[in-house]
Amino acid sequence: MAELRCVVAVDGPSGSGKSTVSRRLARRLDARYLDTGAMYRALTWAVLQAGVDLTDPDGIAKVAVDCELIITTDPERPSISVNGENVDGPIRGGEVTAAVSAVSAVPFVRQVLTARQRAIIEESARIVVEGRDIGTVVAPDADLKVFLTASSAERARRRSAETAGDHAATEADLARRDHLDSTRKVNPLQQAADAVVLDSTELGIDEVVSELHRLLTTRKAA
Ligand code: DC
Repeated sequence: MAELRCVVAVDGPSGSGKSTVSRRLARRLDARYLDTGAMYRALTWAVLQAGVDLTDPDGIAKVAVDCELIITTDPERPSISVNGENVDGPIRGGEVTAAVSAVSAVPFVRQVLTARQRAIIEESARIVVEGRDIGTVVAPDADLKVFLTASSAERARRRSAETAGDHAATEADLARRDHLDSTRKVNPLQQAADAVVLDSTELGIDEVVSELHRLLTTRKAA
C-alpha cells in the first residue's frame, strides 16, 4: 500500500470520529494527515488574541492575511503554530470552540485556508485530510471520499468524555456548531455526492479504519 499515491477526504460533523479515524488510516497508509479544523481553530485563536470582533469580517480577513500559520502533517504528532507560538492546547479550549464557526463562515478566510490546504495536499504523495468541505471543495478529485456520521447522543458522549465536560451542555454545543457549519453560505458541511457514508455509532474505530482501507485498496486495484 505504501507505494500508492492517494488523497483521502474525510468529512463529517463534530464528534463523528473523524480525527481518530483519519490519523489511524494515515498511519496505516504511511501517509500524511491534515486536520483542517485545526487551521480554522488556530486562525480563530489569532482573531481572539488580536481582539477583533467576531462580527467584523474585514478585521478577521486582515488577521488571516497577517498571521503565519504553520501546520505539521505527521499523524503521530500533528501540531500547529501561529506566528511561531505553538497553539495545540489553546485551540481546543472553550473560547476558540465557541468562536470558530463564526470565523470559518467568513468567505475570505475559507479562500485563504482552502488555498493553503490544496498546496499541502499537492506536495504530499499520500494524505488523509479531515474537515467539513474536503470532498466537496478542497479536494473534489480525492481517491476516496468519506462522510462519517454518528448519532448526536453518541457524538456528545465521545466529546464530553474527551473534554471531561457536562454531557447536556456538550450536546447543545455540538448541535449549535453543526447548525452553523451546515447552514453557512460558503462551503457548508456537506456530503459529496460520491462520498461513502459510514455511521460510526455502532462501529469501533478499528472497524471503520479497516473498512476505509479495504475500500481504498479495492478502488486503487480497479
Ligand atoms: O473539526 P473541528 O471541530 O476541529 O473543526 C472546528 C471548526 O472548524 C468547525 O466547527 C467548522 C470549521 N471547519 C470548517 O469550516 N471547514 C473545515 N474544512 C474544517 C473545519
